[in-house]
Amino acid sequence: MEKTVRKIAVLTSGGDAPGMNAAIRSVVRTAITSQIEVVGVLQGYAGCVANKMQPMTIGSVANIIQRGGTILKSGRCPEFHQADVRKIAATNLKNAGVEALVTIGGDGTFHGAHLIAQEHGFQVVGLPGTIDNDIFGTDETIGFDTALNTALEAIDRIRDTAASHDRLFIVEVMGRDSGFIAIDVGVAGGAEEVFIPETLANVDQAIQSIKRGVARGKSSSILVAAEGQKVGRAYDLAEQIRRKAGFDAKVCVLGHIQRGGPPTARDRILASRLGFAAVRAIQQGLSDVMVGVQNGQVVPVKFKDCLSKKRRVPQELIDLAHLLSH
Ligand code: F6P
Repeated sequence: MEKTVRKIAVLTSGGDAPGMNAAIRSVVRTAITSQIEVVGVLQGYAGCVANKMQPMTIGSVANIIQRGGTILKSGRCPEFHQADVRKIAATNLKNAGVEALVTIGGDGTFHGAHLIAQEHGFQVVGLPGTIDNDIFGTDETIGFDTALNTALEAIDRIRDTAASHDRLFIVEVMGRDSGFIAIDVGVAGGAEEVFIPETLANVDQAIQSIKRGVARGKSSSILVAAEGQKVGRAYDLAEQIRRKAGFDAKVCVLGHIQRGGPPTARDRILASRLGFAAVRAIQQGLSDVMVGVQNGQVVPVKFKDCLSKKRRVPQELIDLAHLLSH
């Protein structure tokens, strides 16, 4: 049965991700065409606490689907770990007549959302928005595909110069403590070895792989390292390889370049589908859930499950990356 909702709020929180704007647009337009008012909260949870809210209209989300970043701005809000701060946020939302909140972000965002749902009975629905792709309960997060393609383009470019100069490169990609970007870009970019946090870093294996290449006349190699991999950062890895094998590696840390830029079609479509689903979930009375995609279908997943279970990099991809590097 449908619930009558008059006003909702939407915010983006944590690290921004390409496609967040497409998600905001979808939430706003789905809600307004269903006679639900929408306010945008600026700067994530900090904006809830500081009462930074602005009315959204169909026109206010025009011309943003192709833009990276988030028009609502984003940020991490460490104060939200405090119950009294969360209470201020919930009170501000209620005082503004907001009946439900759509939060777009990663696990930190969902943690805050889960707490205000539990502590204040506030209706909250989340959308997975992070380049890290590390949220349990969805096959893909908004922003991952764009970040992956940005990293891949960079690797293709590095390969040109690596080949011209017969060089070894280590390319460091983002992902915090997960290796989704690294493993996917490693397979797609033909890396000689991929270092991810989920498995023990094997420097000797990488050296063997480089040597195998040299033996068959290959003069340049690319190793991909996730920023959270066990050896440490890419410069430490380069140092270990230099000490063990005498190879001089150039290091390229891609960093925040992976967070910007126009979202891919895949991210725009995912964001649009999930934004729509979030508003419908609110109308159905769902709360304390994320809407994600599993096997192509949009499904609600309890925040509790998203937060307590870990999404794993498939072993099949790890094995494939290794096999294809031969
Ligand atoms: O969670 C997204 C992410 O880009 C991670 O991959 C990275 O570790 C982190 O955010 C960087 O955060 P910040 O922009 O706050 O330095």
